[in-house]
Amino acid sequence: MVHLGPKRPQHRKGTFTDVPEEWMEELHKVEDLLTVSADKLKGITKHFVSELEKGLSVAGGNIPMIPAWVMETPTGKETGDYLAIDLGGTNLRVVLVKLGGDCTFDTTQSKFALPGYMRTGTSDQLFDFIAECLKKFVDEFFPEGCSEPLPLGFTFSYPASQSKINSGVLQRWTKGFDIDNVEGHDVVPMLQASIEKFKVPINVVALINDTTGTLVASMYTEPEAKMGLIFGTGCNGAYYDVVKDIPKLQGKMPSDIPADSLMAINCEYGAFDNEHLVLPRTKYDLQIDEESPRPGQQAFEKMISGYYLGEVLRLILLDLTEDKGLFFKDQDLTKLKQPFIMDTSFPARIEEDPFENLSEVQELFESVLGLQITLPERKVVRRLAELIGERSARLSVCGIAAICQKRGYTTGFAAADGSVYNKYPSFKERAAKGLRDILDWTEKDDPIKIIPAEDGSGVGAAIIAALTEKRISKGLSVGMSDA
Ligand code: GLC
Repeated sequence: MVHLGPKRPQHRKGTFTDVPEEWMEELHKVEDLLTVSADKLKGITKHFVSELEKGLSVAGGNIPMIPAWVMETPTGKETGDYLAIDLGGTNLRVVLVKLGGDCTFDTTQSKFALPGYMRTGTSDQLFDFIAECLKKFVDEFFPEGCSEPLPLGFTFSYPASQSKINSGVLQRWTKGFDIDNVEGHDVVPMLQASIEKFKVPINVVALINDTTGTLVASMYTEPEAKMGLIFGTGCNGAYYDVVKDIPKLQGKMPSDIPADSLMAINCEYGAFDNEHLVLPRTKYDLQIDEESPRPGQQAFEKMISGYYLGEVLRLILLDLTEDKGLFFKDQDLTKLKQPFIMDTSFPARIEEDPFENLSEVQELFESVLGLQITLPERKVVRRLAELIGERSARLSVCGIAAICQKRGYTTGFAAADGSVYNKYPSFKERAAKGLRDILDWTEKDDPIKIIPAEDGSGVGAAIIAALTEKRISKGLSVGMSDA
């Protein structure tokens, strides 16, 4: 049987006539490496479904599948004022959410830039910084003080095991964070201690993953939302499963939670295929993994999420330049050799350049890397950016398809947020096409649509805090029987 390999996608028309043959050969090699066929996507999804199941089993698997102790779906009638914080890669966002009780909400927010050293600083620096930002926010918006502590939903978007809603033991840092003495510890008491140190009237009611927040916030306004997804610096998804279908919870459930209750699951599926059985990893992906602070972890995320897309491009360019001697002849490569110098906006901007002569690509290379780039080089670089973006979008949707198959969803919405989803050119179209390729739809209208999510880390965290307070006021459990 003749193996034809992946079908090569069409280039933008008529653009490569001035690109030397030798370069085209190299480009075709990279195209073959980064192109993921419909059949391959189907195979990955099949394995994904079994890995979701495995993560819920007693023995566990690569995907953590963390029960989030959110056991209700929002009704839209939730009311009250809640604070929420979201610790992202570059900012800390503090949000005051007023839930209207009629599926509406108001938000007031401030952003605080996370100092560069924080990613790899100490845990005290991190939690004191958060508490100080909270203090500034509360002083500004509650100048008269508060009669009771303000309830806070803490969006902590890292894999944290939860034995109850207001606790989260960090399993491991992801997305390049590497702060000592946090892994293996519950981050809620750490934050609460700093809050007390700075005398801020706040009580941490719930710890929430950004995907769980996205799911719940989106359901508040769109009941047909089936999952919450983040395609951003990291990638992950959350959905509701049925308690009796979560074997690892058996024997740990308090008696007031019926077996047919729903439970939000933070999949943490950035860790999909850490065993390297199905993902088409390239030598560039291997290098990114080996040089990361946590080699062997987050195999899926490292191929598709925003933290890594610019780095994939940088490694391919270095390969074409240093190893193959094709690009940037006789130029100073110091900057190109600097890991992570190109963030995801770099390939995104390359794809967005509207000019025939790709003059914005030239400006970008000059300003960020100090390099002059010829027109044929720009064309190859543009094609590389397209390939990287397309691979990311196509692989990303395997998680959506797997959740649909696991839960038997044939219609509904997958609510998505994150910088890659919102800002990376053509991501939405490519993702929709990828989902069609996997699920073989023939309908004119996609039965499962990826839609922009409501603000999960603000509104979602507030709704979850409200649902939690309501449960507690009714004397219902919000965690494992022995938590
Ligand atoms: C990483 C984190 C996960 C988060 C995702 C998106 O995968 O481990 O908790 O949901 O990034 O921010």
